[in-house]
Amino acid sequence: MNSRISLKSAAKINLYLEITGNRADGYHNLVMILQSIDLCDRVDIRKIGKDEIHILCNHPDVPCDRSNLAYKAAALMQSIYPDIGGLEIEIDKQIPMGAGLAGGSGNAAAVLVGIDRLWDLGLTQSQLCDLAAQLGSDIPFCISGGTALATGRGEILSPLPDLKDLVLVICKPRQIAIATAWAYQTFRSQNLLATSEVQQHNLSSQMVAAIASGGDSAPHRIGRLLYNDLERVVLPAHPAIAHLKQQLLEQECLGAMMSGSGSTVFAIAPDLDRANSIAAAVRSDEVDVWVVKSVISAITDV
Ligand code: C5P
Repeated sequence: MNSRISLKSAAKINLYLEITGNRADGYHNLVMILQSIDLCDRVDIRKIGKDEIHILCNHPDVPCDRSNLAYKAAALMQSIYPDIGGLEIEIDKQIPMGAGLAGGSGNAAAVLVGIDRLWDLGLTQSQLCDLAAQLGSDIPFCISGGTALATGRGEILSPLPDLKDLVLVICKPRQIAIATAWAYQTFRSQNLLATSEVQQHNLSSQMVAAIASGGDSAPHRIGRLLYNDLERVVLPAHPAIAHLKQQLLEQECLGAMMSGSGSTVFAIAPDLDRANSIAAAVRSDEVDVWVVKSVISAITDV
C-alpha cells in the first residue's frame, strides 16, 4: 500500500451568486453557479508513525494549526476511521487567500479524497461530499468540481454541462482579503434581500440555459448574465475592487464579476490572446493576475 499521495486542488469562481433567503441557522439560502478553474494548490499527504496531524505550508500566512480546514478534514477522517493513524499534509499554496476562490476549501477536499485513496476506504463521491458539507458550505463542490448549480447553503449540487475552455482573467487585489462571514452578515444587516430585483428576472434559469446551450456563443451569453449579490456589500466597502471591475469592463471582455465574497474579480475573455492583453492592462504592483481556463475536475493527480 502507498504511504503518500500528491493531489492538485483547483480554485473555483462563482459565475452566479444569488442570495434567496435568510436561514434560522445564520446561513443564507443561495442559488450559485460554480466553475472549477485551472489555478491549483498542491496537497501532499504522507502517513506518519505518530498518531498526529502535521500541516506544512510554503505560504507564511497559512495557519498550520487546528484552524486550517485541511487539518479539520484530517481530524474528521481520524474521528471516523481511528485506524488511519497519523498524517503529514504539505500544502504548496498558489491560490490566493481571502479571495473568494475557495482555496482553503479545496485543500480540505483534497485531504478527504487523499485519505480515502491512501487508506483504500472505498468512499463514494456522495459520501465524500456529505463529509465535506460538515466542514464548509463550498467544500462538496471542491470535491465534485466542473460546472454545477449549488443550492441550500451551497452544499446541494446539481451538475451542469461542462464548460470547456472558458478563458478567464483572474485578478486579486494583493492587499484586500474579505472574510466571507462579514460579507454575508453585512448583506443581512442591511436587509438587502428586501430590495433584490434579481429573482423577478429569473436570471439563474437564463444562466443555466446559456451554459446548456454550448457552442461558440455560450461564453458571450454567460458573460452578459454574470451576477453576484455580494457585490452589493463588498464593492461599496472596497472601492479598489469596484475600480478593478470597471477597468476589466473597459477592456474587450465578455463580462466581469467579483467571485464569491471577493476580493477576486474575474473577466471572461473571447480568446487567449485577448485574455493576455486584458491581463497586461490590469496587472500592477497592487493586483496579481492569472490567465486560466475552466476545468472539469476539482481534484486531480499531480
Ligand atoms: O460554510 P462556511 O464555513 O464556508 O461559511 C463561512 C461563513 O459564510 C459562514 O460562517 C456564514 O457566515 C457565511 N455563509 C452564509 N451562508 C452560506 C454560506 C456561508 O451566511 N450559504
